[in-house]
Amino acid sequence: MQFPKKLQQKITQRVTQNSLRRLGKENLLIDFSSNDYLGFAKSEIIFNKTHQYLINNNFKINGATGSRLLSGNHKLYTTAEKQLAKLHNTEAALIFNSGYDANVGFFSSVPQRGDIILYDELIHASIRDGIQLSNTKSFKFKHNDIKDLEEKIIRFAQDNNSEVYIVTESVFSMDGDSPDLTAMSQIIQKHTNVHFVIDEAHALGVFDFGLVQKLHLEDVVFARIITFGKGLGCHGAAILGSKQLQQYLINFSRSFIYTTGLSPHALATIKIAHDELVISNSKEQLQHNIQHFISESNRLRLNFIKSNSAIHCCIISGNEHVKSIALQLQQHGFEVKPILSPTVPTNQERLRFCLHAYNSKEEITNVLENLATFV
Ligand SMILES: Cc1ncc(COP(=O)(O)O)c(C=O)c1O
Repeated sequence: MQFPKKLQQKITQRVTQNSLRRLGKENLLIDFSSNDYLGFAKSEIIFNKTHQYLINNNFKINGATGSRLLSGNHKLYTTAEKQLAKLHNTEAALIFNSGYDANVGFFSSVPQRGDIILYDELIHASIRDGIQLSNTKSFKFKHNDIKDLEEKIIRFAQDNNSEVYIVTESVFSMDGDSPDLTAMSQIIQKHTNVHFVIDEAHALGVFDFGLVQKLHLEDVVFARIITFGKGLGCHGAAILGSKQLQQYLINFSRSFIYTTGLSPHALATIKIAHDELVISNSKEQLQHNIQHFISESNRLRLNFIKSNSAIHCCIISGNEHVKSIALQLQQHGFEVKPILSPTVPTNQERLRFCLHAYNSKEEITNVLENLATFV
């Protein structure tokens, strides 16, 4: 059977542009790449406590057996969602199978025909995909640019018949930088028909329970998307907001409705990882490492995008160039990933460093000193 020509052409184009994606292999390199910021994915404590919790509560089944609206809504969902609502200081939490599902489910169902979505130009692909599935007009605003956002809000919020949804990330997945959420909230609060939606995927665990809570903005934000596959080291996601929002999503969010629920094991891990987040000192260890990385990159005069999060990016233009520097770092024992165009705009290709509680200070200094000799 012949592979469709148009598909082959697209793959060939990726090869020509040096941007063909390939699945990687497990390796023993020093991890500056995974999203396991606190080391929870590797935590034996979480693994053992989860196992014990399942045994103690007699949850001896492997799968959810159906959609949550049919047979899949087992008891652990209620336990985990109650815990999430309490810890994240919100009225209700609704668990989705992944952050991708949560964003697609939210944006494809909440904004209605005639409403407006204003999104940061660097917003994650899962939000873009959700927006594409909605019947809503959407406009981007310049990255983290409060003035541009305010101008657009004034332009679109005048029509009281339409709702305006503003969406941003509290920590941007590619650059690791953060918008001024407090300033944005103040603008948004001036309008009753403007609703703030914040994706906290890369903030949860790095800044305790996320930046919204750290900045005391829980009551200003209409919906928060939190994901468990990054700082929490497991899998799944939740949308935090009012009980009305929860009820709406259960009824209309297709990525929530038409899929099998998470297994009891996945939910128990989410619960135990949150218990651990409350007591673990990995959060402080990660903060020390972030500060060390910033001071070392300044000392070595390396050109990083300003960030206080666990993600730090050094712009190195050109797919070929950034790939070759990443390869040199890998050959010296460090797992650092190049981010290529078209994932980021051409000439904005970058090396993306993810920092972890388990990186040592020496590893951080070493990787940066190596980088300084290559750029
Ligand atoms: C900002 C952001 N939102 C959502 C997601 C999707 O989350 P998940 O990996 O749980 O599907 C990601 C993952 O890359 C992300 O970076």
